Amino acid sequence: MAAIIALLCIFLFAFSPLGDALSSNYYDQKCPKAEEAITNAIKNAMMNDQTVPAAILRMHFHDCFIRGCDASVLLHSTKNTAEKDGLPNISLHAFYVIDNAKKAVEALCPGVVSCADILALAARDAVALSGGPTWDVPKGRKDGIVSKASETRSLPSPTFNISQLQKSFSQRGLSMEDLVALSGGHTLGFSHCSSFQSRIHNFNATQDVDPTINPTFATSLRSVCPLHNKVKNAGSTMDPSATTFDNTYYKLLLQRKSLFSSDQALLSTPKTTGLVSKFANSKEAFLDAFVKSMIKMSSINGGQEVRLDCKKAN
Ligand code: HEM
Ligand SMILES: *[C@@H]1O[C@H](CO)[C@@H](O)[C@H](O)[C@H]1NC(C)=O
Ligand SMILES: *[C@@H]1O[C@H](CO)[C@@H](O)[C@H](O)[C@H]1NC(C)=O
Ligand SMILES: *[C@@H]1O[C@H](CO)[C@@H](O)[C@H](O)[C@H]1NC(C)=O
Repeated sequence: MAAIIALLCIFLFAFSPLGDALSSNYYDQKCPKAEEAITNAIKNAMMNDQTVPAAILRMHFHDCFIRGCDASVLLHSTKNTAEKDGLPNISLHAFYVIDNAKKAVEALCPGVVSCADILALAARDAVALSGGPTWDVPKGRKDGIVSKASETRSLPSPTFNISQLQKSFSQRGLSMEDLVALSGGHTLGFSHCSSFQSRIHNFNATQDVDPTINPTFATSLRSVCPLHNKVKNAGSTMDPSATTFDNTYYKLLLQRKSLFSSDQALLSTPKTTGLVSKFANSKEAFLDAFVKSMIKMSSINGGQEVRLDCKKAN
């Protein structure tokens, strides 16, 4: 399996139209202790806050889907016009964790390790430290200098159907298999009511609740997210084992207990349904596919410099 993944990566990077090739040993000479320092920063943050791994994994996904994996998601803006300030940013948090990792790495080797690589490595660590798989992250990404809130509109929405999801992924060189495997990231973390509200209240003119949701599950969601919800930060964990990286997401999906229409949409074609069943039945198959797709997603090329401060272009 490892050999197949390695071959696949060589193929991907050798023929990728996306730009500079990344490599596993990129910092071996330039900053040999970088990965260890990043892992320690994630571990330290996790000790105080169990929600950190989910936040970091999602942050990396958002980063890669806008302008490639160039850490543009980390840039601050003075006028609320950076990606961070765009609407789908809801619940993006734990930016401080990446800043702490960057500080640790800068102390070892100033100006060498990009924020984009730190985020890619941190996402890998977030998965591994939550009981998921680990893998070699190809490195050598550069950081971008542009971040626009308006571009977050091009992130996939939780209301997307299968053709919209397919389009969003294929525009970034990702396949239907990548879509199904990467959606398994929803084994970690939390969602606010607003992200699935339209499925559980006033769904359409004739149905109050999306009939594709398991009725018992819909009732429990409606109790935490009433129509005129006043509770700040109300919502639901993505799956009951929200801090454990496993294949529970797919098992729940088959019982129609997933939060988003975009999750449920994976059951609307025979091909994606087949993959959901495969991943529900075999954790091993899911983990292999997830690693392969993460390497692919995290290799979408973007930036041009190594930022000294992850919040500011040089
Ligand atoms: C397929 C398209 C996707 C859509 C439409 C989508 C949508 C969402 C939404 C709406 C939330 C909840 C935000 C909130 O209400 O707080 C969320 C959370 C999350 N997503 Fe996705 N997502 C997608 C793909 C991915 C991918 C590819 C990953 C990573 C591999 C990922 C990882 C996560 C994680 C870990 C959370 C929880 C964040 C936290 O607890 O802080 N998602 N996603
Ligand atoms: C997310 O974007 C909204 C809308 O622009 C903004 O009001 C909010 O402060 C942002 N949230 C974070 C965590 O940056
Ligand atoms: C998905 O949504 C788009 C936009 O609303 C619509 O044009 C398309 O027909 C839908 N596709 C499916 C398979 O439902
Ligand atoms: C409401 O949604 C259901 C299930 O998707 C569908 O069968 C029905 O035609 C929809 N009704 C309207 C008025 O759109």
